[in-house]
This record gives sequence, C-alpha cells and structure tokens, in this order.
Amino acid sequence: MDADPEQAVVSAREARARLERHPRSSWRHDPTHGARFWLEIHDGFRRESDGLVALLDEHRSGRRAAGELAVISAPRLTGMVARLRNHHEIEDFEYFPAFRALEPKLAPGFDALASDHAQLQHHVDDALGALAELLAAAANDGAAAPRVGDSYASRADDLCRALARHLDDEEDLIIPLLLERR
Ligand SMILES: [Fe+2]
Ligand SMILES: [Fe+2]
Repeated sequence: MDADPEQAVVSAREARARLERHPRSSWRHDPTHGARFWLEIHDGFRRESDGLVALLDEHRSGRRAAGELAVISAPRLTGMVARLRNHHEIEDFEYFPAFRALEPKLAPGFDALASDHAQLQHHVDDALGALAELLAAAANDGAAAPRVGDSYASRADDLCRALARHLDDEEDLIIPLLLERR
C-alpha cells in the first residue's frame, strides 16, 4: 500500500524534531537500556560488515585471490545474514508493531524501515548467489574465479552499503524515541 504523502510529511517532521532534541552525538553518553541494546546489536553488524568489506578490499588490491576470498568470506557472510534475518524478524513482528501502537504518527517511518528489510533481503540473495558461484568456480578449474570474484565483490559491497544506510536510518528514527521513553 502506498504511503499517504501528508502522513509521510508529518512523520518525517516528527522524526526530525526528535532527532534534533537527541542528536546522534549525544546517544552514547547516557543511553537507556533499550537504546544501548539497539546500538550494540547494530554495532555488531557494522563490525561484521566492515570485516567483509576489508576482505573485498584485499581482493581488489590483489592481496587475496578469488578462491581465498570465497573460502574466508563464506562463513562470515552466511553468519551475518543469519543474524540479520533474526534481527529483522524481531523488528518486523515485535518492535515495529509496538512502536507503531505507541507512536502512530511515525507509522510511515516504520513502513520505510520494513521496506528496507525487504530490499536488503534482495541484496542478501544476490550476494549469497554470487558467493555460491564463486565457491563453485574456485572448486572447479579456478579459471573463472577472478571474474566471478569481482561479481561477488560488487554484490557484497552493495549489501554492506545498503545495510550501513539502513542501520543509520533506523537509529535516527528509533534511538531518539527510546531516549524519550526513559
Ligand atoms: Fe532493521
Ligand atoms: Fe535494526
């Protein structure tokens, strides 16, 4: 269902006002338990994502061959996406409905975050698909591995960028809310 444009404007204004009252620079000083928990979970995803991106950089600079990239990335990517799936399920089915009930004006903001989750799942599927191709290429003759390695690097990069944006957007909406409900 398309968002009501007027509701979306009200939601964005509300969210911006809260963020001005609780700017990002203040979040870590005296967070509520809920805010601290949320930030810790997100920081864990940032660390995992940074680790994946570091491997991509090593591959691009020639310090890590495509086959090696595949073997080292596989458990890290699959672990991160499994944790991400659990996290999104909890947000979609528990946290977002609870926040919607408490703050109906912010509903379009939660709709946008839920839609990010669906979009992120496409990036996850693309990255996992490219990783499977890379693992297969590396296990076979290996000749195709460099080309398939670049394809995996590009898709994993897209996933990590989209995830970073989503984590920031979600925090901008939710952390000020949690800080005001102390
Ligand atoms: Fe999320
Ligand atoms: Fe989240």
